Amino acid sequence: MTQPKPDLSVKPEVTAFFDAQSNTISYVAKDPASPACAVIDPVMEFDAAAGRLTHDGSNKIIAFIQEHGLTTEWIIETHVHADHLSGAPYIQDRIGGRIGIGEYVITVQETFGKIFNEGTEFERDGSQFDRLFTDNDTYQVGQMACFALHTPGHTPACMVHVMGDAVFAGDTLFMPDGGSARADFPGGDAGQLYDSIQRILSLPDEMRLFICHDYGPNGRAIAWETTIGEERAANIHVGAGKSRDEFIRFRTERDAELAMPALILPSLQVNMRGGDVPADEDGNPTLKIPLNKL
Ligand SMILES: [Fe+2]
Repeated sequence: MTQPKPDLSVKPEVTAFFDAQSNTISYVAKDPASPACAVIDPVMEFDAAAGRLTHDGSNKIIAFIQEHGLTTEWIIETHVHADHLSGAPYIQDRIGGRIGIGEYVITVQETFGKIFNEGTEFERDGSQFDRLFTDNDTYQVGQMACFALHTPGHTPACMVHVMGDAVFAGDTLFMPDGGSARADFPGGDAGQLYDSIQRILSLPDEMRLFICHDYGPNGRAIAWETTIGEERAANIHVGAGKSRDEFIRFRTERDAELAMPALILPSLQVNMRGGDVPADEDGNPTLKIPLNKL
């Protein structure tokens, strides 16, 4: 299928929700022509020391949706996140919506199914999700035409979602002064990430770009919205015509210095299951810590 054309005349109302534990930005994107909305990358908080899950961020999103009388049609995961646990099933259980992710979640499930030594009860077919998006896949939020682009590199299953004039970048590009996402997790690839980013940068300059993480580099306040044009001109990792080779060299050197995200082991076990928490033989929610695997 060829890449759909974005309709820049449709401008979704985008509301951001910031999770300070993982520096994640979740979104509610509302169709301007109806009460329909999509939730993108919701978070469930995890206190690793206590082994306790909470839902403050998801509760804020649910309250916002209810206060504004919105209908949740989709809960979109841009990828299998490694730094926070998904709030998607918690939200779905309370206000509905179909949970969607990229079809290559199957590759992620294969890789991490082995790392966590999961048994056959962990199905590696993406069946934990309501929809597996393919490259250039189209869908609707109310009357708003949306599509998904397969953008591997950070992880094999990464997708960027386009809704009207808004682009949800997932973990590809960060803000222009933040650069790009790491490419060193199992299944990551810096060259693929560069190619995926070029694809995003070929979208029209004026499109709004909403990023998934911001760490406030150099002491600036947390930010999450930019434009394709600003990224192309000024992104410190890929802007102003940086070459593929330059990017691969830089990204590989940088990634070698980065520590693993604090919540990578809990996050992957939950997120590869569509946000469901695994249980022990008596049904108690339980996570594993496999040693020396990452
Ligand atoms: Fe990520």
